[in-house]
Amino acid sequence: MKYPIKEAFEAQKNAYAPYSKFFVGAALLCGDGRVYKGCNIENSSYPVTICAERVVIGNAIADGNRDFKAIVITGGDDYCYPCGMCRQTLAEFCDGDFRVVLAKSENEIKVYKLSELLPESFVLDK
Ligand code: THU
Repeated sequence: MKYPIKEAFEAQKNAYAPYSKFFVGAALLCGDGRVYKGCNIENSSYPVTICAERVVIGNAIADGNRDFKAIVITGGDDYCYPCGMCRQTLAEFCDGDFRVVLAKSENEIKVYKLSELLPESFVLDK
């Protein structure tokens, strides 16, 4: 699987983070090979802020794509782990085999399965 690392760094450049100055990018690889991009979008009313991961998931879903294979996350100067809310959002659409890739640079990455980052996750039967 070719992870969309470059796309995550591209999206990070568009992050709107004037309050925290912590810029996050995310790129979501879908089963059909398409890649969606997202960045964090902050707000002067702080809780209105949305993380890069949830932005990219929304972008893909709004485009009719819900078959997710991997997400690449970039943020700050180190590996940027997804927050709990974003892990739960991923669990809504992805199985435990879904890959979460943290990229510190184009060639420094850590790869996790979603089941490692959110074991025993909450689900309701649909
Ligand atoms: N942030 C993300 O976009 N993703 C994460 O997984 C962690 C945090 C953003 C939210 C806020 O704009 C900034 O990083 C600092 O918390």
